[in-house]
This record gives sequence, structure tokens and C-alpha cells, in this order.
Amino acid sequence: MHYRHFPCAPEAKISILGFGCMRMPYFNNDSGQINEEESIKMIRYAIDNGVTYVDTAYPYHKGNSELLVAKALKDGYREKVYLATKHPVWLVEEFSDFEKYLDEQLAKLETDHIDFYMLHALNKNRWNKIRDLGAIKFLEEARAKGKINYFGFSFHDELPLFKEIINTYPWDFTQIQLNFMDTEYQAGIEGLEYAVDRGIGIIVMEPLRGGSLTKSVPEDVQKIWDKAEIKRTPAEWCFRWAANNPHVVTILSGMSTMEQVEENVEKADAMLPNSLTAKELALIEQVRKIYVERTKVNCTNCKYCMPCPAGVNIPGVLTQYNNGNIYDNREGAARSYQAFMINNNIDASKCTECGVCLSACPQNIEIPEVLKTAHSYLTK
Ligand SMILES: NC(=O)c1ccc[n+]([C@@H]2O[C@H](COP(=O)([O-])OP(=O)(O)OC[C@H]3O[C@@H](n4cnc5c(N)ncnc54)[C@H](OP(=O)(O)O)[C@@H]3O)[C@@H](O)[C@H]2O)c1
Repeated sequence: MHYRHFPCAPEAKISILGFGCMRMPYFNNDSGQINEEESIKMIRYAIDNGVTYVDTAYPYHKGNSELLVAKALKDGYREKVYLATKHPVWLVEEFSDFEKYLDEQLAKLETDHIDFYMLHALNKNRWNKIRDLGAIKFLEEARAKGKINYFGFSFHDELPLFKEIINTYPWDFTQIQLNFMDTEYQAGIEGLEYAVDRGIGIIVMEPLRGGSLTKSVPEDVQKIWDKAEIKRTPAEWCFRWAANNPHVVTILSGMSTMEQVEENVEKADAMLPNSLTAKELALIEQVRKIYVERTKVNCTNCKYCMPCPAGVNIPGVLTQYNNGNIYDNREGAARSYQAFMINNNIDASKCTECGVCLSACPQNIEIPEVLKTAHSYLTK
């Protein structure tokens, strides 16, 4: 395992591969029903093989991820890792709510402190509201009480807001979405460098773009990967690209099978800074261009838009729409849409345009409009 360090905590050995507990295996197509036995095995395998950073959040797996992490970290595992979780800022209505939710999280996680604590998924509305309600005062007080050690925020909005938040406070770290497709999206590389210049540590999330860079790799993309002198899986290329940046402290991977944990842990030894050759970087750039030309909707399948009040499976519809375009297979996507969406009454035609999804989407997708276009494409 390769280790790096946060500027705020140079003594802490942080594994380049962090365990993101948002994509654990689950039963009955219900992310709230985590397959606990398998998930605990996966987390412990990763820790036994050098992972020292575990990331969860209040809402993951319908509120059950923190409970699962507590179970996985029993039997001495808590002491082997730095534990990160995120405050559900959207639930805060008054100052006392900040500490109320932190205390609930400490109880769920069965720990007396969080090592790395974040304000979760900041966007303009959330930030303005919680800043005015005293979020920073709360964080400083929580640290003084020993409930949290280091604090920062995870981010899903435009670059100018990112810089504004960075300038508000000398944060310890920030968590941003970054992969070779998202260099100019949300915080992007410019945001990363802006934070680094101010001594703020960087955590990367969605390194595989939520799995979309590794699932059904299009033939023209695979042909480019095949040209590489050293053969790597698409996942490995993604991790190597993120790790190549020496300022990235840890890369969170949401792993949903033991095989993925084994592969990612094994490859983490080579996730070294500045280790890709100019030729390899050029190869990745070729792949990026192909994807850019194909992607229709910027959905990362984070499911923050769910549940939809009208019952539409929004990420499911957008995935089918993107799949049809990215993989040039409208008929296949239309078949899946019929089988999995229309036949289950969760297709885009059920959308009432209520707009609840609009404020929830970290990617700022115009979901009701896109659903109409997707439905027409998938049913023509
Ligand atoms: N704070 C926030 O706002 C926020 C938002 C998003 C994520 N996060 C955190 O960041 C973590 C990482 O984000 P993410 O889960 O979106 O990460 P990601 O690594 O981009 O995507 C995860 C998906 O990648 C696929 N995958 C993983 N390893 C693979 C391998 N070796 N080969 C092929 N496919 C592989 C899996 O897809 P399949 O399941 O389809 O196999 C998995 O579900 C999350 O788990 C969460 O802890 C935070």
C-alpha cells in the first residue's frame, strides 16, 4: 500500500486507496438492506491489506452505512483506521441541530470521535443556509470538545462557489469529484490547485465516475486502452490517473464486490505520484475525447435525487439514456428501459415535473427536461 499525508496531519499515514462505504452489496434491490456479512468482510480485508481511511456519511444506504461501518470496525479495527463521515447539513434548521446530528452519528458509529468530519455535499443553497446558522462555530466547538479531529467539506457545485467556501476558512481538507473526465467540472483541477495553494488537503471521490468508466467499456475506448505498452484494466487507469497528482492524499473507491476490493488493493502499491509517462497521459486523453463525444447526461448515479415523489427511477432512466448513446446501442437500451422501467411503472413518463429532484442533484442536471428527452429517445 502506498501512503500519503494531509498537510493538516503530517503524522497520519493515509492510504492512497480509501474505502467509500456508499456502494456496499445489498439485498432485494434495496440499498438499505446491506449484505452485512459480505460488506464487513470487504472492509476488513481492505484494512488487513493496508487501507487506513474509511469514508461514510449519514444518508448512505438509507442511513444504514454508518451502522454497518460501526460493526466492521469492531474487534480492534477502529484503531487501525482514520474514520471519516459527513454532517447531513440539509437537515439543519437551527444551531442546536448541528450537534444533535453529530451526536447521533457518534452513537451510530459507536465511537467517541470522528477523525475527518465533513459538511456533506455543499452547494450554494446549503452553504448559504448553514454558514448563516453557524456551521463553522459548531465545527470549532465540536473539535474543542474532542468529538472531531479535522474538518472540511465535500463539494458538488460550480468552481466560483468552491473558491468562495475555500476562502471563508482555513479548512483542513476538502473532498472533490475528480477523474479524467471531470477535470473542468465542479471544482476540477483548478479548484484542486486553488485549495492546495492554501494548504488544504485533497480527497478524491468518484474516481471511476461512479463506475461508468469501467462498466461496458465501448469498443473504440477499449481499442485505445489496448494500445498501451503496459496493459491495465480501465479501473486501474482511472486510479493511476488520479494518483498521478501528488496533491491527492486519498482516492475513495466505492467497491461493491470482494473482487473489486482485491483488485483495487492489489493495484494500490503502484498508485504513485507522477508515475504515468507522457505517452500514457496522451493515451488517457484520447479515451477522454471519445467519451466526451458520446456522453449525453452528466449523471454519476449518486442517487441523491431519490426517492422521486412520483416513483420515477431517475438514475435508472438516465443510465439507459446514456448507455444508448455512449455504447451506440439504442435498441438494447430501449429493451432494458421497457423491461426494467416501463414494466415496473418507474419510467420517465410518470414524472410530474414537481422539481424536488432539481435541488437534490449535485450535478445540477435539469432532470424533468432530460427525462422527457430520454423517454422519447428510449421509446421511439
Ligand atoms: N460527499 C459526497 O458528496 C459524495 C458523493 C459521491 C461519493 N462519495 C464518496 O466517495 C466514494 C467514491 O465514490 P464512488 O462510489 O462514486 O466511486 P467510483 O469508484 O467512481 O465508483 C464506484 C463504482 O465503481 C465500480 N468499481 C469499483 N472498483 C472497480 C473495479 N476494480 N473494476 C470495475 N469496477 C469497479 C463499482 O461499480 P459496480 O457497483 O457497478 O460494479 C462501484 O460501485 C463513495 O463510495 C462515497 O464514500 C461522496
